[in-house]
This record gives sequence, structure tokens and C-alpha cells, in this order.
Amino acid sequence: MTRTKHIGILTAGGDSPGLNAAIRSVGKAALGCGMTVTGFKDGFRGLAQDLRFPLDKTALAGILTVGGTILGTGRDKPHRMEIEGKTRDMTDVIAANYAKNNLDALVCMGGGGTHKNALRLVEKGLNVITLPKTIDNDIALTDASIGFDTALGIVTEVVDRLHSTAHSHHRIIVAEIMGHRAGWLALGAGIAGGADVILIPEIPYDVEKVAAAIRRRSEYGTNFSIVAVAEGAMSVSDAALFAAARSRKKGAKHAPEQAEAERDLAALNARQADNTWRLSKQLEELTRLETRVTILGYVQRGGTPSAGDRLLATRLGTRCVELIENECFGVMVADCGGMAVAVPIKDVAGNLKLIAPDHAWVQSARRVATCLGD
Ligand code: F6P
Repeated sequence: MTRTKHIGILTAGGDSPGLNAAIRSVGKAALGCGMTVTGFKDGFRGLAQDLRFPLDKTALAGILTVGGTILGTGRDKPHRMEIEGKTRDMTDVIAANYAKNNLDALVCMGGGGTHKNALRLVEKGLNVITLPKTIDNDIALTDASIGFDTALGIVTEVVDRLHSTAHSHHRIIVAEIMGHRAGWLALGAGIAGGADVILIPEIPYDVEKVAAAIRRRSEYGTNFSIVAVAEGAMSVSDAALFAAARSRKKGAKHAPEQAEAERDLAALNARQADNTWRLSKQLEELTRLETRVTILGYVQRGGTPSAGDRLLATRLGTRCVELIENECFGVMVADCGGMAVAVPIKDVAGNLKLIAPDHAWVQSARRVATCLGD
């Protein structure tokens, strides 16, 4: 007779709506086929410090519609974790706790960082399987990630609402949208909400061209504009500086060269944090229209998941348990053309899904005369 399988679940990285739906689907499907399920708290830290609780029927009840994650989350890396004021490599401790708890599989739900961390545990011999979640939608090899659909709805509603106030005051409103180094959320919500300008990291912008597009609207009698700017969007000149610093870091042969490139990158990242404010000031000067900034922030990933995210989480979560039953590990459960398929974690980790310049969304935005800043 085979022993009951015991699976662990953790959620890591920024939270996103639909995580609880995913925990519920993995948990219920696993309990349904006789497995036992344990939740680890606060991402990889939970496994490093053995912070766990049973995910039984009671714990899984009533969470489908709840935002956030009942497990808690964190951005800790197994190989560089702050423990009592010291940075420690906890990879071996995690492997020992995995063995101590008699785990047969570990389900990690997360985004880009989580996949790199999950790969480290795969390389340690753990049976890891991942689910893609992030509002940024930038995980490689999956069409969708859990949380994006809800965030898209929230941001679209905000862009809708900004229209009436921008219109009433004849203002430009620059709305900063999350997305890390990808522009999916800004582009998707910008199109759906009818933003006049959409700026994304994949298409560096020329502020003069953005201002010219806004001035043209004024010439036609429309004295307001909504600018949807991704947090990672940057001007052509800043993009060139970033590219140069990254390539110097990559090509550095000696430690001092590498340290210098890293310092330059840190300075550029610090500058990028104010990009939306800088852009707003530049647009006000160039167009002479009063300009305001709205930073959407964490509202984008809070609250109830959409129907689309609940469905995606349930499809991917139940497939995850089928894969565990079949002992298929080292894979992410991806959404591919409506199917839930297994793709190797090693092909996901370290790779971002960015918007191609000729992507259908980019083409559609251009065809409805949206300025993309180029
Ligand atoms: O990765 C998801 C995300 O929400 C990004 O869009 C954003 O840049 C980041 O997390 C914010 O991270 P934190 O929660 O660490 O402030």
C-alpha cells in the first residue's frame, strides 16, 4: 500500500488577488484524493523556520472570495535570509525541514523571484511545483498569471474615474500603474479605460512627443488628457543609461568594475522612483496645462479576486494536484491557450515575459490613436 502523500504550500513575493482561491483549489483537490496538506507561513521563511499549520477542510472553507493570502507572504530568498540580524543561507535548513515534515511535494505560488528561489530548491532535490501569480503578468511561458485579471479591472476603473475629474478641471492626470519592469497592466488598463497616452517600459518615450500629442488634443478642443504610465516606463535617454549600466555589469571582468556598474544601477533605480513626478512636471511645462499625479499603489492588488482569477486559480490548482499524483515535479503549471500545462521551472526562472513592440495590444492602441510616447 502506498503512503498518504503530504504536500506543503507556500505563497511568496507580493500578494495578489486569487491566491486564496489557488490555495483552496490545491488543498481541496489534494484532500479529495487522500493527501494531507500543510501551509507554511510568510513565504520561504515559513519553511526555513518551520512555521506551519494544517490546511484541513475548515482552514480551506470560505476563502475563495477573500483577497490576499491566508498563509501570509514575504520576499525572503532561501539563500539570503535575515535571521536574528544576520544574513544566512537557509537552503539546507529548508531542505532539512522539508524532510523532517515528511513532505512529498512543495507547492510554491509566486512570481519572478519565487521562480528563481523555487529553482534553487529543485536543485537541492526537493519535489517542487509552482503556480504563477503576479498582478504584473510578466511570468515567462504562461499566458496569464493569477491576480492580473483583478488588477486589470481595478486599474481600468480608476482610469475611467480619472476622466471625469480631468475633464472638469481641464487637466492632465498622470496615473502611475504597477507592473515592475513590464507594461502589461498599464497597457491593458490604458486601452480598456481609454487613456490618451500609455507609457510602458518596453517602449521608451520621448517627452516632447508626448507633449505634442497632448497639445494636438487641445488644438481640437479637448483640454484634458489621461496619461497611464507604468512604474517601469522611462525616457529614451534613461533607457540608454540603464542598458549601458546593465551591459557593463554583465561584462565586468573584475570586482571593482562590477561594483561600479552596480552603484550606477542603484543610482538609476533611485532616480526611476521619481519618474512619474518628473514626467508630470515636464508635461506641465511643455503643454502649459495644469497637471496632477495619481499613484495607484497597493489598491491595485488588494481585495476580492475577479471571476477570471478565481477560475484560473482553480484550473491551475487542480491540475497541480494531478501533476503531484503523477509525480511530475520541477515544473510550473502554466496557462497555455486555455490548457493548464506543465513547463520546466528552469525555463521560467530568470526570464521575463515582456510586451513585444508588435504585440497585438500595442497595434490596437496605435490604431485608436493612443500616443505610446515614440
Ligand atoms: O510584483 C508585484 C508588485 O506589485 C509590483 O507591481 C510592484 O513593483 C511591487 O510588487 C511592489 O512590491 P512591494 O510589495 O515589495 O512594495
